[in-house]
Amino acid sequence: MSEQEIKKDNTEVEAKEEKKEEQTKDAEKAKETEAKVEKEADVDENGLSKAPFKNLHVIVVTSGKGGVGKTTSSAAIATGIARKGHKTAVLDFDVGLRNLDLIMGCERRVVYDFINVIQGEAKLNQALIKDRHVDNLYVLPASQTKDKDALTLKGVEAVFRELDDMNFEYVVCDSPAGIEAGALMALYFADEAIVTTNPEVSSVRDSDRIIGILNAKSRRSELEMEPVAAKLLLTRYVPSRVKKAEMLSVEDVQELLTIPLLGVIPESADVLKASNSGNPIILDEASDAGKAYEDAVERLLGKEVPLRFTTEKKGLFGKIFKK
Ligand SMILES: Nc1ncnc2c1ncn2[C@@H]1O[C@H](COP(=O)(O)OP(=O)(O)OP(=O)(O)O)[C@@H](O)[C@H]1O
Ligand SMILES: [Mg+2]
Repeated sequence: MSEQEIKKDNTEVEAKEEKKEEQTKDAEKAKETEAKVEKEADVDENGLSKAPFKNLHVIVVTSGKGGVGKTTSSAAIATGIARKGHKTAVLDFDVGLRNLDLIMGCERRVVYDFINVIQGEAKLNQALIKDRHVDNLYVLPASQTKDKDALTLKGVEAVFRELDDMNFEYVVCDSPAGIEAGALMALYFADEAIVTTNPEVSSVRDSDRIIGILNAKSRRSELEMEPVAAKLLLTRYVPSRVKKAEMLSVEDVQELLTIPLLGVIPESADVLKASNSGNPIILDEASDAGKAYEDAVERLLGKEVPLRFTTEKKGLFGKIFKK
């Protein structure tokens, strides 16, 4: 082979290699762009991942109006779900007011709280308090003193992702009253909402506003997924007052709110006794309110259970002269 021929040969080989290199570079670039597009598609405009949780089912206990029984219901329902064998966490979103730990009877064991976790001052498993009544249940208390803005959607999402990785099946979010930031934060990731309502007009009106928000401002609505499953929990029900038209009836409230009924909890002095002693009312098996919460949990988990405690209890006179 002449020197010229060898040179020509070498240039051809070099050109081929260069072309090959270029092709691999192009392919790599295309791959990178593809991954970037995919990554962007996985994240919404708030930087929150669109990926679904593996096992975690998010339930918010919400109401709009204050003082209707959200914390009482969160404690009872989370305890009931855990008692059925599901790994459950109950989270207090009421920054500044911290009530859930009292009702769950773990206030003396609070060291770290939800905001400590979000701000990286504590690990989630340091802040979660194992419930003393039932297995599979953990409480994440709210912060009593810190600034409300410390609760962020990104922070909440990170906590939920970690709970999901820890194989939690349910997280029950106890919402603060109102329709401001804290309440919106509590409902944003919900798959299911327990709309807690008292049988009176102002409570029903505020519940209706919350249902509107669930349909417009939740993650499910933003991602155009199936809407949040909103269910009605009617609390502090007094059949004798309904009969005297002093309270709205179950039917009245259902007609106004048009969401499926999860349960009716009667007014009962046992509820205050239970919260004062730090034992969720569902553990009081002799109490009608406890039994009604147990029924609600059964329904939440898909069982059909008839309604109880919605009609007036017959006194001795009524029992003797039963019509
Ligand atoms: N079924 C019931 N019978 C009698 N009292 C009840 C019942 N449910 C709740 N209560 C009482 O109503 C009051 C408010 O309950 P709770 O704190 O659960 O409401 P909340 O909606 O969480 O209030 P907030 O909006 O302030 O967070 C408490 O004193 C509680 O004991
Ligand atoms: Mg509360």
